[in-house]
Amino acid sequence: GRYFGAAIAAGRLGDATYTRILTTEFNAVTPENEMKWDATEPSQGRFTYTNGDRILNQGLSNGSKVRGHALLWHAQQPGWAQALSGTALRNAALNHVTQVATHYKGKIYAWDVVNEAFADGGSGARRDSNLQRTGNDWIEAAFRAARAADPGAKLCYNDYNTDGINAKSTGIYNMVRDFKSRGVPIDCVGFQSHLGTGIDSSYQANLQRFADLGVDVQITELDVEQGGNQATIYSTVTKACLAVSRCTGITVWGIRDSDSWRTGANPLLFDNSGNK
Ligand code: G3I
Repeated sequence: GRYFGAAIAAGRLGDATYTRILTTEFNAVTPENEMKWDATEPSQGRFTYTNGDRILNQGLSNGSKVRGHALLWHAQQPGWAQALSGTALRNAALNHVTQVATHYKGKIYAWDVVNEAFADGGSGARRDSNLQRTGNDWIEAAFRAARAADPGAKLCYNDYNTDGINAKSTGIYNMVRDFKSRGVPIDCVGFQSHLGTGIDSSYQANLQRFADLGVDVQITELDVEQGGNQATIYSTVTKACLAVSRCTGITVWGIRDSDSWRTGANPLLFDNSGNK
């Protein structure tokens, strides 16, 4: 069966309403921030897993899947990594992938190995970043390092504004097709789905075209702006996932509206008091 997950924060696990909803309504968790580079390697070579382990153990103790998020990303890098470039950055990034994936080896259902590496707009190109400037092969190098460290985890590429057939999702589609043809280890693509008041009519067709490449697809960070169509959009996304056999699960990006990064948008499934 498909999983239904929530992004959670270690600092909220002491909130009884929050954990009641988490344990009764969900069977997967994603750390909202606790496994990111700045959190896990605040100074180079010194790894801190306390909060990431809290999320992991919350999930495992509840029999839930744990999605790891995210090994490499242009944002939320520790200051020391932001200051690196070239070979020094490449080596540091791959070491980060290896160390973190090894720490969590055997425990993670799927890792977002690389997050948000494509540009917005019509180019379909990679996003400029310090990581991209180390060479266009940085993404495949990261996937190979992750596979070597934890062969049991599904390895995902994850991005936003890919919630339909458009230039950005097509750029990613072409990368995944290339990876599959050359044997670069990639198992899944995450569609964040931070949605506004509308949804692209090609949402399901887009999931399907990726699935047809031979990867799983997952909805990884779903939230929908409050407004006339919120319930309909949640329904459309859910039905799209159910209609695509390789759509393995849906994760919402928080539990209550008050837990959301989208302040004022009330984009989640539970209100501030924890009511559905
Ligand atoms: O924990 C510190 C706290 O100690 C400090 O006092 C406070 C003041 O700035 O900051 C707190 O850290 C914040 C952290 O969230 C925890 O609340 C960071 O500043 C803030 O930048 C961080 O925001 C996160 C954001 O990623 C960072 O880019 C959001 O919670 C998180 O929901 C968001 O998630 C991203 C996904 O990882 C990738 N896709 C998009 C999504 C939404 O932006």
